[in-house]
Parts: sequence; C-alpha cells; structure tokens
Amino acid sequence: MINYKKVLEIEHLSVSFGTGKNAEKVVDDVSLYVEKGKITVLIGESGCGKSVTASCIMNLLDPNGHIRSGKICVNGKDVRSLNKRQLVDFRGKDVGMIFQNASEALNPLLTIETLIAEGILAHKKISKKEAYEESLKLLKKMRLSSPESILKKYPYELSGGMCQRIMIAIAMAMQPPLLIADEPTTALDVTIQANILNEICEMAKMSQTGVLFITHDLGIVAEIADYVYVMRNGKIVEQGDAYSIFQNPRHEYTKELIGSVL
Ligand SMILES: Nc1ncnc2c1ncn2[C@@H]1O[C@H](COP(=O)(O)OP(=O)(O)O)[C@@H](O)[C@H]1O
Ligand SMILES: [Mg+2]
Repeated sequence: MINYKKVLEIEHLSVSFGTGKNAEKVVDDVSLYVEKGKITVLIGESGCGKSVTASCIMNLLDPNGHIRSGKICVNGKDVRSLNKRQLVDFRGKDVGMIFQNASEALNPLLTIETLIAEGILAHKKISKKEAYEESLKLLKKMRLSSPESILKKYPYELSGGMCQRIMIAIAMAMQPPLLIADEPTTALDVTIQANILNEICEMAKMSQTGVLFITHDLGIVAEIADYVYVMRNGKIVEQGDAYSIFQNPRHEYTKELIGSVL
C-alpha cells in the first residue's frame, strides 16, 4: 500500500564517487522518510554525505557520482525513472530546494519580480497583478525592507543574504509538497536566521509541505524539528522524534553532538 503521508521515501540509498579501486562510498545504505507538514532534520558534521543525499533526491548528482543502489520516491514518483522533460516539471512542482549559495542559483537575467511570479504562476491560475501582490507579501515575510524596489532588481544588485531570502521566497511561492533546505541560513545573521526558520515552519504547517532540513548545527534544529536523523560517515547512526533524540540520545556520536551545544 502507498502511504500518502510520506512525501519523501528514500530506501537503501548507496552512492559512490570514482571507479574501481578508487571508488569511495559516501552514502551507505541510507533510508529516510519525510511526512507531510513535518520538519525532518538531517544532521551530521561537514563531509558526512548530507548534500550528496539531497542531490540524489533532486536527481542532480555530480556526473562522477554513481548511485549503487536504492529507491527514491517523492510525492509517489520514482525519481530515478523520470526522463529529462519530466524532471523539469518535477523540480519546482514536486520538490523545491534551498541551497547555501543562493547568489549562484538565481537566474541572473531575470528580475526578482519575474523569478518569484513565475513560481506562483506555475501552480496557481491567477492574474499577473495578483501574482505581483503575492510576491510583495512573500518578500515582507522574508523581512526584506522596501520590497517594491527589490522586485525591480536583478540578483547581482543584491547582497548574498538578500538573495538567500529571495530563494526561500521562490521555493515558498511554488508550495511544493517537499522542500529540501540544505544549510539554508548558514550565511545569514542570527536574528534573520530565526525569522526565516519560523517562516519555513509556518509554511510546513500551513501548506502541509514536508521539509527536509539539512544542517550541521544542532543548536538551530532543536526548536523546529519534528523528527531527526543523525548521519555519520555516510550512514544513519541514529533516528527518532526530536524529543527523544535530545532527551535520550543513544549513540555516542549523538551524545557528542548534543554535548557540543549544551
Ligand atoms: N563531486 C564529487 N566528487 C568526489 N567526491 C565528492 C563529490 N561531491 C561530494 N564528494 C564527497 O562526498 C562526501 C560527502 O560530501 P557532502 O554530501 O557534500 O557532505 P556534507 O555532509 O557536508 O553535505 C565528502 O567526502 C565529499 O568530499
Ligand atoms: Mg553540504
């Protein structure tokens, strides 16, 4: 039976880079699930395989990487079997992604207005004027001042932190069933970081988006997490609801992670 509560199902995913004797397994038999409206956190230190896992979900693994085995379903769709045309639709409509380096990810040829409105118009039958109003609202939610003037600008005219918040606004405009946020607030200052985490949470609850929140920073996840997976050297070493992970960590590594925050 298909479980419709799950917007992301990863089963026994293994990924390696390189070939032959030099092949290195960086994701090792990972199984992980994200439910509708829930914030699932994937945490682990730098280099443990978090972003490689995320790139597989988007079907954007670097060409020198190789999926050895595993199944990935998003919103009931088997990601590995989608063709090029289906993938264009898939990215954005089924799954949105917020990366760490927003400035590079935004199309430099389009104004912020076009970038956000395109996202809204892709899934809502509303007029351009209404899309404009909605874009303004999203920018206000992202705590961007003078949103009217920002909408007329191009990405290069804005700071890295502003681009980051715009990328989050675009992902929200699409209202995808699954949102992957890969260290989305690392480059932002602490107060803005907190505001943005709140907005991501609110979106998850309001539009029933399932969020996979990737981070190496345990401090920020405690407040927002529903469920936590702890990753180390390519493997999931511990998982559980946020409360039990924080109150009663079983694995030594998780204790260390928690210890380093408290
Ligand atoms: N394109 C690539 N070619 C070779 N190795 C890679 C590539 N991308 C990532 N890796 C390796 O895979 C491992 C996991 O990387 P990554 O998923 O980016 O870690 P993180 O948990 O910090 O996101 C690291 O050892 C990294 O060096
Ligand atoms: Mg990473």
